[in-house]
Amino acid sequence: MHLREPGGCGEYAADPMQDTTQALLRYKDLVDDWEALVETSHRPLPLVVWENPLRRAHVERLAIATGLDRRATVGELLASRGYEVEPLAWRGGAWRVRGLDKPGRTIEHYLGLMHVQEEVSLAPSAVLGAESGETVLDLCAAPGGKTACIAVGMANRGTVVANDLRPQRLRALRSNCERLGIRNVVVTPINGTRFPDDAGPFDRMLLDVPCSCEGNLRDSRPTARRARRNQVEGRGGLQATLLGRAWKLLRPGGVLVYSTCTFAPEENELVLDHALGEDATIEPFSIAGLRHDAGVSHWAGKSLRADCANLARYWPHHNDTGGFTIARVRKAGAHG
Ligand SMILES: C[S@@+](CC[C@H](N)C(=O)[O-])C[C@H]1O[C@@H](n2cnc3c(N)ncnc32)[C@H](O)[C@@H]1O
Repeated sequence: MHLREPGGCGEYAADPMQDTTQALLRYKDLVDDWEALVETSHRPLPLVVWENPLRRAHVERLAIATGLDRRATVGELLASRGYEVEPLAWRGGAWRVRGLDKPGRTIEHYLGLMHVQEEVSLAPSAVLGAESGETVLDLCAAPGGKTACIAVGMANRGTVVANDLRPQRLRALRSNCERLGIRNVVVTPINGTRFPDDAGPFDRMLLDVPCSCEGNLRDSRPTARRARRNQVEGRGGLQATLLGRAWKLLRPGGVLVYSTCTFAPEENELVLDHALGEDATIEPFSIAGLRHDAGVSHWAGKSLRADCANLARYWPHHNDTGGFTIARVRKAGAHG
């Protein structure tokens, strides 16, 4: 039974608890504490919001009107209304919020003062490190949480090309950008495997590919419960084709971040091993306060390129988040 359009994150099973445990079983030898992984994966995700710096003046207005100091944050505004708020350990201007059932119906959300986003999905834009004035391609961008993080981080200067194959998913991206006051995003509805050469070269690129979404097992929306072995095995070809196309559009010295919300090496290390050549280096990185495990350089009897170990695997039980895998890849050639 398909309960959701294909191309985003697929289908889900009749018994999500059993499905979750089964989906994770193949990683028993890869993870330090499999029981903790399973236990965490059965718990709902914490709600996370980040403050939109582009709307700082409006946050100040609300703070003063509420009787708070003008420097008060969105976190403090929410706390003043009785919600339990805890700053993220690794990222400023973002909080876990307890007790807020419908964050999309708050005035802070309507006014674009904040955005709701799963914690670990904030990591790819941090790893990408796009700077004001650069030209960035987000090849699989909808519904646009990561695009928004990148564009806001560039302070509305430079260009983010936000592309996605599915026009209906791009509607949500456009509406998020409008609400957040983002003006440096241009939207393209192109099949990423055929994204034209003459659109580049780009300084940086985010490739947040369609995947089996195992890392979303904690998502409480029923449509988010879905990891299927056949999906893990079926996606690598498209992911490698997208990576090959993206790589051609990246300038020498440029940075590409490849990310998935899945643990499967078939959708991560094996894709990079297959699609990248000698002009690519998977660089090591770490985010202080957000624990990760190294990538694998051997899987299912196959030896992979050694720098696959530099991928970062974010397991749900390490940071109480969803699951994610991120690689930061540098193209050989002139920097700057
Ligand atoms: C994991 S989701 C992206 C999530 C997005 N980066 C965000 O943060 O909101 C993968 C996206 O890839 C898109 N997609 C699938 N095949 C594609 C293709 N051939 N070209 C471009 N986009 C594609 C899907 O429509 C889906 O929106």
